[in-house]
Amino acid sequence: MKLIAPSLLSADFLNLGRDIEMVNRSEADWFHCDIMDGRFVPNISFGIPVVQAISQLAEKPLDVHLMIVEPEKYFEAFAKAGADIITFHYEASKHIHRAVQQLKALGVKAGVVLNPHTPVAVLEDILCDLDLVLLMSVNPGFGGQKFIERTYEKIRKLRTMIDEQGLDTLIEVDGGVNTENASLLFGAGADVLVAGNAVFKSDNPEETIHLLKNN
Ligand code: DX5
Ligand code: ZN
Repeated sequence: MKLIAPSLLSADFLNLGRDIEMVNRSEADWFHCDIMDGRFVPNISFGIPVVQAISQLAEKPLDVHLMIVEPEKYFEAFAKAGADIITFHYEASKHIHRAVQQLKALGVKAGVVLNPHTPVAVLEDILCDLDLVLLMSVNPGFGGQKFIERTYEKIRKLRTMIDEQGLDTLIEVDGGVNTENASLLFGAGADVLVAGNAVFKSDNPEETIHLLKNN
């Protein structure tokens, strides 16, 4: 699968409606919403009321990436705000299995995120319960950072684990994705690419989305 999820963290917040409509018109598949709490990551982004506003205009699924401590406390609020997919960090939760069941009970798709230092092997016994795995290809907290090359190897390893278990879990990659590395990432086995700066800081965001998806 080759899906593109533009990250609204890099959108123009003074013209958020315009940027959402651009994504609606484009070949993008999901809206990626980055939630940061200033504790799990050294930055604060936006929260529940903003996600709710986005959901009113967005015509594609909302992929909500929680970079927060105690993510379980907020699952229900983000689901009610319109999230279709919720991912939370492996490093932020002690009871991943329980948290995944909580997300399923709320009727949203469930994913676990791994920081660059966390090996994919830690997911071996939970993979069958996950709709997707999000591999961070930068350290979470900021848009516009440099892609970590080691990610290709992690994608390949995770692809092998998913195929060996006969699962349809999606692999999503987030951070430093651009029109240069997109086809290599899909080739390594990624299904969904998140792109912030590459899309919203480009001269022609719609065309960039087309290139990310079709190169
Ligand atoms: C980083 C966020 C990313 C970020 C990606 O912590 O999780 O989703 O918005 O931005 P780019 O594509 O600019 O690296
Ligand atoms: Zn993200």
